[in-house]
Amino acid sequence: MAAEVSALRRAADYGAAFRHKGHPLHPVEGAPALRRRFCRPLDEAGRDGAAVIEDLIAAAEPGLVGNTDGAFFAWVMGGSNLTGVAADWLASVWGQNAATYQCSPAAAIAEEAVEGWILDLLDLPRESSVGFVTGATMAGFVGLAAARGAVLRRAGHDIDRLGLQGAPLVKIYLSDEAHVSNHTALRFLGFGEANLVRIGSDGQGVMRVPELAEAMARHEGPKIVIGQAGQINTGGFDDFAALADLAQAHGAWLHVDGAFGLWLRVLPEKAALTSAIERADSWSVDGHKWLQVPYDSGFAIIRDREAHRRAMDMTAAYIAPAPDDGRDPKDYNPELSRRARGFAAWAVLQGLGRSGVRDLVRRHCALAAALAERLSGVAGLGVLNQVDCNQVVFACEGGEGTDPDAATRHLVERLNATGTVFLRTTDWKGRAVIRVSVIAEPTGRDEIDRLGDLIEDEWARLRRELAEVAR
Ligand SMILES: Cc1ncc(COP(=O)(O)O)c(C=O)c1O
Repeated sequence: MAAEVSALRRAADYGAAFRHKGHPLHPVEGAPALRRRFCRPLDEAGRDGAAVIEDLIAAAEPGLVGNTDGAFFAWVMGGSNLTGVAADWLASVWGQNAATYQCSPAAAIAEEAVEGWILDLLDLPRESSVGFVTGATMAGFVGLAAARGAVLRRAGHDIDRLGLQGAPLVKIYLSDEAHVSNHTALRFLGFGEANLVRIGSDGQGVMRVPELAEAMARHEGPKIVIGQAGQINTGGFDDFAALADLAQAHGAWLHVDGAFGLWLRVLPEKAALTSAIERADSWSVDGHKWLQVPYDSGFAIIRDREAHRRAMDMTAAYIAPAPDDGRDPKDYNPELSRRARGFAAWAVLQGLGRSGVRDLVRRHCALAAALAERLSGVAGLGVLNQVDCNQVVFACEGGEGTDPDAATRHLVERLNATGTVFLRTTDWKGRAVIRVSVIAEPTGRDEIDRLGDLIEDEWARLRRELAEVAR
């Protein structure tokens, strides 16, 4: 026992020091070196816990990615808020299983509290239920499972008895720039290409409403529409008033993929983008992105609690139902045994408070807009999205015999080589682009100013070199 307690103390001391001093943004070792550290024979005899933790630290550190750092812009990932980390450690220390109320009344009621706060913060229908899942991929799965059951039942198909056998064709409408996880969730649910209708999108990845209206009019059967609140590259928002009108007119289920963008609902000044989102039937949103809850944290929000429960139904004689005033987390989740995810979300929300959540989202949006404005003024660089949210998409422009895509990829390599930022390229509408995600809690004005300076300097140097080569 003493050795295990010292392992715990070591992890706590190390954790505090690690976050205080920071660490390299980029992993310093690749897979072969990491394999040499981790993939060793498993000894017959066990070892002292504190020594094992020491070894784990030595093995893992060279392969860590600095997404808790303010200069991390590569993907839409949060910074793992430390109050949340502490609560998450306690979830493990307490060893709670959030399967049912009986397994852990505290875990169940913490989730009930967070359910209420989230519905309130996001101003979504208060009767909705929330499942505490691993992330937006599974939140989408849960929302779309509820959607599948509801639209098929409405069409007179008994999905609970027949599954998808003999079911009418369900058409699912989504942007051609929808996040890939929606496609994965749909595949898990037994939907294939024949079910999908990809709707063309504009430069923000926003669905073209007339095209959606036309497509929906072509099908008589059950329908699901998936809208996006925060396109993964641009942060673009679908026209939710139009989507909700169409869904209503067609008796369709409207699901909103709002993995990060749904948090814009906390800002009154963003109402033009986010209003009417509350008219949807289900929403997926992450805790581990903008809210900074440590991994893994996602929320599956469904207006029709009964449709939610029916989609996730899991009963057995040995699983005693919650007492009348309790709440069984498994009714809203695709898993039975699982981590008590509510504690970390509860702690982060308490730590930030309403104003803290608003300030965080507002600051990141303002910083992204400031960076976009600065980059727009740099000769040879172009910002390709309208920056309403936290995402900035920019690229090098061609000229003087330079391939713009190659220049963009070259630029990001140079920026990353400085070790002071972590950025990534992607493809957007047929072009190589650099996508800056301003989403880690520590990212502030200084980090954005330094990023702007660095981009300007490195681009000026690269541009001169490219021009010389072209001559
Ligand atoms: C718009 C969108 N939807 C879904 C996801 C998937 O979320 P997760 O990685 O939490 O499963 C992401 C992840 O970046 C996203 O940006």
